[in-house]
Amino acid sequence: MKPNSLRIDSSLGGPGISDIRKLPDESFTSLWEAIVIDDEIKSRLLSQALLNFTLRPKVSKATMPLHGIILLTGVPGTGKTSLAKGLASRTAEALGSITYVEVEPHSLTSAALGKSQKAVTELGSRLGEFAANGKTIVLLDEVETLVADRSKMSLEANPVDVHRATDAALVQLDTLASSFPNLLFIATSNFPQAIDSAFVSRADLTLTIPVPSEVGIKAILESTLTGLAKEFPAMKSLTRQADFAQVVKTCVGLDGRQIRKLVATACTFSKKTALDPNLLTLQDIQRAATHVQKESQLAKGGYK
Ligand SMILES: Nc1ncnc2c1ncn2[C@@H]1O[C@H](COP(=O)(O)OP(=O)(O)OP(=O)(O)O)[C@@H](O)[C@H]1O
Ligand SMILES: [Mg+2]
Repeated sequence: MKPNSLRIDSSLGGPGISDIRKLPDESFTSLWEAIVIDDEIKSRLLSQALLNFTLRPKVSKATMPLHGIILLTGVPGTGKTSLAKGLASRTAEALGSITYVEVEPHSLTSAALGKSQKAVTELGSRLGEFAANGKTIVLLDEVETLVADRSKMSLEANPVDVHRATDAALVQLDTLASSFPNLLFIATSNFPQAIDSAFVSRADLTLTIPVPSEVGIKAILESTLTGLAKEFPAMKSLTRQADFAQVVKTCVGLDGRQIRKLVATACTFSKKTALDPNLLTLQDIQRAATHVQKESQLAKGGYK
């Protein structure tokens, strides 16, 4: 893989920051392109991100309480993180250079008892420093960790500390929103029910990313096999075989990650195919799809 020359040493960002880079970034744009989804979803996301930088600096909070937050929710493996990173890069393609900062909520909330609130407040000031220097997009991946629902705090965890961390995060978001209209947060979550409702209410756009439709599944399988065919040319013909439509049907309900990965699973049914993936057959892929579908149903049913 090509080293990313745009990546900046993330230790410069301090605790809670796992990546800093200048956008646009080709590797992020390709993540966006790899996600097969209704064009309308991509187009709405991009328009919302652009609007953040065009409208928010010009409109008072009293007129429109925009916070510069886009929230992507959905079951695991539906492409939320890829879309978030890709969206950031696409926005920079349209508007010019943007600083990208990735926050790692786990490292903040796992801080020692009583320290989470301080860590969150310090992170807020550092994000403000980035935004003071130009357009900035911050990824809050798995945001439920940062803004855990205060009404559902378990007494076993450190409820007071978590409560305070959520309070501190909301205060920081409000402060940053009013001081820096050139700052956009893109948040993702698999557990929207675990996110504090005050955060959800602050999001300017919430979108649930669905599992792929049948048309989407076909495109994802084609894209996976075409990608692999660059190294293993025999794979290219598999999508043209008559039973390909049946494989697609078997995958209905699976998420994008499962669909891409089942092609690898299909190569594991024989040692020969594992040694030379050119030997992969459509029957192997059908078998893998049936296997993944069955496992997925079992997992959903709680292994009863
Ligand atoms: N709709 C899709 N089209 C094509 N590929 C997809 C799709 N959804 C997911 N994928 C693939 O699945 C992988 C995982 O995607 P990603 O990490 O963005 O998902 P996620 O929703 O953030 O998952 P999680 O909730 O577990 O963090 C990526 O390789 C991505 O390309
Ligand atoms: Mg993710």
